[in-house]
Amino acid sequence: MATANSSILEIKDRLNIVDVLSSYIQLKKAGTNYKASCPFHNEKSASLMVSTSKQIWHCFGCGEGGDIFGFVMKYENIDFPEALKILADRAGVTLPKYSGENSQQDKYKETLFKINELAAKYFNEVLLRSSVAEAARKYLSNRGLSATTIKDWLIGFAPNEYHLLESFLAKKNFKQQELLDAGVAAKGQRGDYYDRFFNRITFPIKNYSGEVVGFTARILDNDAKAAKYINSPETQVYNKSKVVFGLYQAKQAIRKEDCAVVVEGNMDVISCHQAGFKNVVGSSGTAFTYDQLQTLSRLTKNLKFAFDTDAAGITATKRALELALQLGFSVYIVKIEGAKDPDELIRKDPKLFAKAVVEAPLYLDYFFEKSFEKYDPTSVQQKKAIVATLIPLLKQLNDPLEVAHYTHILSQRLSVSEKTVYELLAKDKPNTKTFSDKADEELKKEPLLRPRSYFIEQKLLGYALNNNNHRFALIEKSDFDYLRDPKIKGIFGRLWTDANKINGNVFIENLAEPEDQELAKMALFMVESEYAQLDNPSVFDQEFQQLLREFVSQNIKIEMESVRAEMVLAEQKKDKKKLIELNQKFLELSQKLSKL
Ligand code: UTP
Ligand code: MN
Repeated sequence: MATANSSILEIKDRLNIVDVLSSYIQLKKAGTNYKASCPFHNEKSASLMVSTSKQIWHCFGCGEGGDIFGFVMKYENIDFPEALKILADRAGVTLPKYSGENSQQDKYKETLFKINELAAKYFNEVLLRSSVAEAARKYLSNRGLSATTIKDWLIGFAPNEYHLLESFLAKKNFKQQELLDAGVAAKGQRGDYYDRFFNRITFPIKNYSGEVVGFTARILDNDAKAAKYINSPETQVYNKSKVVFGLYQAKQAIRKEDCAVVVEGNMDVISCHQAGFKNVVGSSGTAFTYDQLQTLSRLTKNLKFAFDTDAAGITATKRALELALQLGFSVYIVKIEGAKDPDELIRKDPKLFAKAVVEAPLYLDYFFEKSFEKYDPTSVQQKKAIVATLIPLLKQLNDPLEVAHYTHILSQRLSVSEKTVYELLAKDKPNTKTFSDKADEELKKEPLLRPRSYFIEQKLLGYALNNNNHRFALIEKSDFDYLRDPKIKGIFGRLWTDANKINGNVFIENLAEPEDQELAKMALFMVESEYAQLDNPSVFDQEFQQLLREFVSQNIKIEMESVRAEMVLAEQKKDKKKLIELNQKFLELSQKLSKL
């Protein structure tokens, strides 16, 4: 019987990577390989290479790469099982049947999608045509929503009745239990079913592929005691930690503009889109989860938070920041001034919002500005308040250059020495993590955004596999304890033991783990295809030397950082001897660095 694994191999056998990628992007022949401009980052040149012999692709611009499955997953932004389905279809390979239970589950999900879809259309009809929706129509038009927007977002109205939707869907043969499972019905204490949404404006929530998975529903009367919004519960089709409100409608614009603007409210999202700001999504009043950010990060690495100006909005911004920064996003803060939220600002003048988005400062610059506006740095007490706000943010920085930059600014603006700021930063060093445990936990999952260090390490591996001279230069020049990626480190380890008689391809075939094989294959391909593109082979050698220098210099810098941290401690302890020692070490390292 076919297994999932054998199907994957069969699909790879039957499909040519060139054909598959050609249906998404335009490939040009380059020697025995092909190249294209990369759809995953903005570029004019063609940095994406496709290897026909290895049946893999790699982009030298952004570092992405993989096989046909990886490409389709990334391009379509779908999970592996979905990509498998698409490519199996294309290859004419029948996938092994799921167990009966699973396919039944899939069918049931279809039912739940259908119910939500029908409910959305029903509410929309009611809003457009029913006399009971008069007040709702008026409300929406007062808020400036156009007929087109109402149609595009399938906005609706659920009248003030308990069994209206139920009887509509009963006529279409849906059962009460199904309505409950779809989240459109609720169950009372006595086991009676009733419509979950009544007397509210309904906004359908779509998943990434555009299926309606639930609703967020707003009350008409702001003074009422009930919650302003009620939302669908978590269901088999609505995973709250994964879905991002408005993302289906925004994804193309986000990719095109290489930036996503995040607002808090559903109404803000809709108002922004109506005004032509199409790369806007909603956080629905909570901080994004790892999964939500991961979905976004496939589209862009730039986030602009445009949160409400009240205290809650500022807290929300800080919470939203933590994980986004850890995931490697560049985060900007859109200053909503003279209005309480983006919706209000747009209603005043869309140009004001456009300007605020374009001019959004980097988050740290924003918090600097805020703190110094709020507190007076000439007063000791207020200095402390500034420090209390900014130091935790500075501690989150990874890049030594950024640390140096902001340390310098902070010391100047507080009129204290840089050393003082470094001391503040070094305080409680073991607890530098200001992040929640949850964020930590989430980070333990496989990182999606690979740092440059990973790229460097993988490429060095490629050089080592490709060429004896480079392999020996690497052994001689560098300290492999510094390799950060455990897999790459492991492969290097095996490579050294037999360094004298290695043929890259044979070495790769002999690696025990398929994952290691893939990694090494990709590494070798990166280097080989670059070589194939060059007119002058000596450039190739220069590029290797350059990369090696970058690797070594990174390692020296890391060591210098740790020496500097030790110096601050030694100074606090007034340990003169140790200080002299450390000074000497620091000097040696910086000399080493300058000689590279
Ligand atoms: P807001 O109160 O800012 O809502 O809450 P809004 O969308 O801007 O609504 P308007 O402008 O007053 O009509 C932000 C988000 O928090 C969630 C919703 O997703 C809302 O869009 N929220 C808020 C709830 O889920 N329940 C609530 O009771 C309130
Ligand atoms: Mn609002």
